[in-house]
Amino acid sequence: MKIQRRALTLALLAAPFAVQAADPVKIGFLVKQAEEPWFQDEWKYAEQAAKDKGFTLVKIGIPNGEKMMAAIDNLAAQKAVGFVICAPDVKLGVAVNRAAKRHKLKVMSVDDQLVDGAGKPIADIPHMGISGYEIGKQVGQALIAEIKARGWKLDEVGVLRVAFDQLPTARDRTMGAADALKAAGVPAANVVDAPQAKTDTESAFNAANIAFTKNAKFKKWVAFGLNDEAALGAVRAGEGRGIKQDAMLAVGIGGSQTALNEFTKPTPTGFYGTVLISPKRHGYETAAMVFDWATQGKVPPPVTLTSGILMTRKNQAEIRKQMGL
Ligand code: GLA
Repeated sequence: MKIQRRALTLALLAAPFAVQAADPVKIGFLVKQAEEPWFQDEWKYAEQAAKDKGFTLVKIGIPNGEKMMAAIDNLAAQKAVGFVICAPDVKLGVAVNRAAKRHKLKVMSVDDQLVDGAGKPIADIPHMGISGYEIGKQVGQALIAEIKARGWKLDEVGVLRVAFDQLPTARDRTMGAADALKAAGVPAANVVDAPQAKTDTESAFNAANIAFTKNAKFKKWVAFGLNDEAALGAVRAGEGRGIKQDAMLAVGIGGSQTALNEFTKPTPTGFYGTVLISPKRHGYETAAMVFDWATQGKVPPPVTLTSGILMTRKNQAEIRKQMGL
């Protein structure tokens, strides 16, 4: 009887701790454009990290600043320990940092590096993104190689830069591409800027349409933007104006479903290729780093930049395999 009572007391004492230990650690993954295949892929690989490491991933779409702030508060209310974020506007950096500190949440940015009021990257928020300018140069070089393969003359080609210059990585990427084309001999005057209002296909389509109307003198075009959606918007706009596959060469950045859909169409479109970047690294590694930081105090490196490889209709399967996708 005595022994039994002792066992019961011990069990009761242990109970609250047992419940606590069984509560899984929660990590948030907040993205600006949840409908975009790239972000879907990031979430997918972050889920993989959650499974491997044994935490719960809380995925929230944050299309604007208000939703973003609500999402951070929501994570805190759920007792999450940290989060990964691709914010709807990098200038919200100070607000993100403040909210994270107030709630004692670890925060790391992905894709778009957060900046302060002066536009300087916020040093105490670790970041993983692509090396924008270098990857942009790869886009430009891929375009040059294909311009040459098609026997186009450099001075007769219009260069459509679908621009979203308020986002530093977008500016870096598209400037890298334009610079590579100019370095190879395309006249600077042939570069036409098409500023898009948002970073999706529809906005790129609208921007490209205006630019094509204003620059009807070019009969052949190359096009690029910050992502596959931007390049694709230009391709669709061209098609609507009779600038078809034989007169249009677009190279995107990403390599997620947006690009793959184009590559699996029975006849090639103007969407010639994309620089494949790694949603696996961006999704898996950032989520894992925030987990290790919150649970083991292992601070992520301040900045991690990932690379990309040119992928076309022809080599897509092989390249995706090489990237472990
Ligand atoms: C930005 C773009 C996305 C994607 C990522 C990749 O966030 O908006 O479409 O290209 O960068 O880092």
